[in-house]
Amino acid sequence: MIIAVDGPTASGKGTIAKALAAHYGLPHLDTGLLYRAVGRQVQLAGGDPDHADDALAATDFAETLLADPELRSEATGGLASRVSVHPAVRAALLERQRAFAGQPGGAVLDGRDIGSVIVPEAQVKLFVTASVEARAERRFREMQSAGRAVTLEEIAADITRRDARDAGRDAAPLIAVADAHVLDTSTMSPQEAISAAIAVVEDCRPQA
Ligand code: C5P
Repeated sequence: MIIAVDGPTASGKGTIAKALAAHYGLPHLDTGLLYRAVGRQVQLAGGDPDHADDALAATDFAETLLADPELRSEATGGLASRVSVHPAVRAALLERQRAFAGQPGGAVLDGRDIGSVIVPEAQVKLFVTASVEARAERRFREMQSAGRAVTLEEIAADITRRDARDAGRDAAPLIAVADAHVLDTSTMSPQEAISAAIAVVEDCRPQA
């Protein structure tokens, strides 16, 4: 069974994807991490994330970069969002994601274009979303406990900027495809969101 989990930043899609993978014993790929690695690599190489050639060259990043804690920062998230607009970057990362999805037994992948471009044939498609306020609040709490000095306003502005770039780009924009199940987690606890996602999968999964 292939489960595609798409949605904007801080919607809860990562938590849900991880929990679904554990629940169903499937491997999980956080595809945002690949774009984050490209963004970080451009920075390390002194390139320009808005320049398609620099961004494409960075898709050749070393596997060890995936363990870099800096990949999780807001700054790297912003770089990822900038490199991900280039169609050549998306094309370079496509096969790796498709190969992961094609493993025997299936997989869970989370990102922005999993149900629309990477595996349109996925048996289950979830589009996880939440209000900007709820997402900013969550990210703020995460940042505070990580000891990072940011304000709620800065985070909300960054989320709004990133949403606009991800949804407005020409190449694989963030959209809920017609056959996706939309899950709005604004007022849900992580456990409630996970239970709701499992209920959707149970409804969709091929009966044995
Ligand atoms: O999900 P995460 O916040 O880690 O993703 C970082 C950025 O990578 C997103 O803002 C988006 O621009 C890009 N991305 C993408 N397609 C994916 C996953 C992430 O364009 N499948």
